[in-house]
Amino acid sequence: MRMYDIILKKRDGGELSDEEIGFFVEGYTNGAIPDYQASALCMAIFFRGMTERETVRLTECMARSGDTLDLSAFGDLSVDKHSTGGVGDKTTLIVAPTVASLGCYVMKMSGRGLGHTGGTVDKLESISGYRTSLSEEEFIEQSKHIGIAVIGQTGNLTPADKKLYALRDVTATVDSIPLITASIMSKKLAAGSKNIVLDVKYGSGAFMKTPEDAEKLAENMVRIGKSCGRRVTAVLTDMDVPLGKNVGNALEIKEAVDVLRGREKGDLYEVSVTLASHMVSLVKRITPGEARALVTDAIGSGKAFEKMKEWIGAQGGDVKALEDFEYLPSASVIYPVNAPCDGYVEGIDAQSVGRAAMLLGAGRASKEDTIDPAAGVVLLKKPGDPVKAGEPVAKLHTCDVRRIPAALDAIGEALRYGAEKPAERGLIYKVISDADL
Ligand code: URA
Repeated sequence: MRMYDIILKKRDGGELSDEEIGFFVEGYTNGAIPDYQASALCMAIFFRGMTERETVRLTECMARSGDTLDLSAFGDLSVDKHSTGGVGDKTTLIVAPTVASLGCYVMKMSGRGLGHTGGTVDKLESISGYRTSLSEEEFIEQSKHIGIAVIGQTGNLTPADKKLYALRDVTATVDSIPLITASIMSKKLAAGSKNIVLDVKYGSGAFMKTPEDAEKLAENMVRIGKSCGRRVTAVLTDMDVPLGKNVGNALEIKEAVDVLRGREKGDLYEVSVTLASHMVSLVKRITPGEARALVTDAIGSGKAFEKMKEWIGAQGGDVKALEDFEYLPSASVIYPVNAPCDGYVEGIDAQSVGRAAMLLGAGRASKEDTIDPAAGVVLLKKPGDPVKAGEPVAKLHTCDVRRIPAALDAIGEALRYGAEKPAERGLIYKVISDADL
């Protein structure tokens, strides 16, 4: 078999055989196929697409390209969640302990942030002592005992995706639905959970800019997950505006705690409750409505917050930081951003807020950058809120005052004002369950 022929076949709109896809994934992972041929194939897939059978095969081959976790000890009770990424998206910190407090097993491998979206692992590392890397035995044992473990991605999980994703990133082939599907679902399959809830975001801060594109991606991922023997639900959620109020690592831990302690409702609470309900619904085989009653009770009764403390403590984190935010990193410079006029906040562009947070030190422009756990943006107003000229609408947090001017420009681009109260935006566009397909 020759890589040249595989590229040619796809370039001309042909359907690749299982053997050809296997040959490509194995050869690219072990270095036998060079980057230039792999990128040519990705570009051909970008233009020609893939059939469902091809996408399933690509996903399975990528999932098996490295280690896989065996979660059979948890039967059908394991559940994972994946977000396609967004600004201020700290739902894992809320959803995981909530669902675990209801008897589900949440074993999650999370990523680090790159660019304008933060990673769960970076957020958790702002809690002193928290261990983001556990051995496989520790990961499984902790999950058996307390129902939850959240770690960074282990060394050899889906190496094919690691290489391919880095290649796609520099060859303008990221936003291809079959390639995104195989990338995300291969990681979920390798991580082993039987049930998977996908939070597929659309809007300025997301990969998919429109709900229609997000729907196509979500349908594809649900279908592929189902073909690979998993139960999958996708929830399509808005990411035009940052989720919640805080963007930045320690700041997001604080906000997640506030939601779990019942001190904060709003969009973050709503999206978290919806995702948690679908996870519980899949595991317990009850309706999302029945699951929602359990989830709101777990949060309202404090049971979910207790589970969070148990989880953070089990992974070595300083539990005092959850009770008293003085024990979390805090910024030495807090700079207010004031409204220029009377009126209403009309919109807050998620991508620009993410850029502001990154410029303040909360994110990485390249993999090698270090992050400032205290840095970020706090939004004091959200779209639809009235404002008076000179009133603070946001605060910039950093430990380096030289970062303020560039961040001010970015936040200036993010905030839009108007004389009229804007129409309310929908938060959840659609839910797609594997039973619908
Ligand atoms: N996230 C992933 O993990 N892979 C993609 O291809 C896109 C988003």
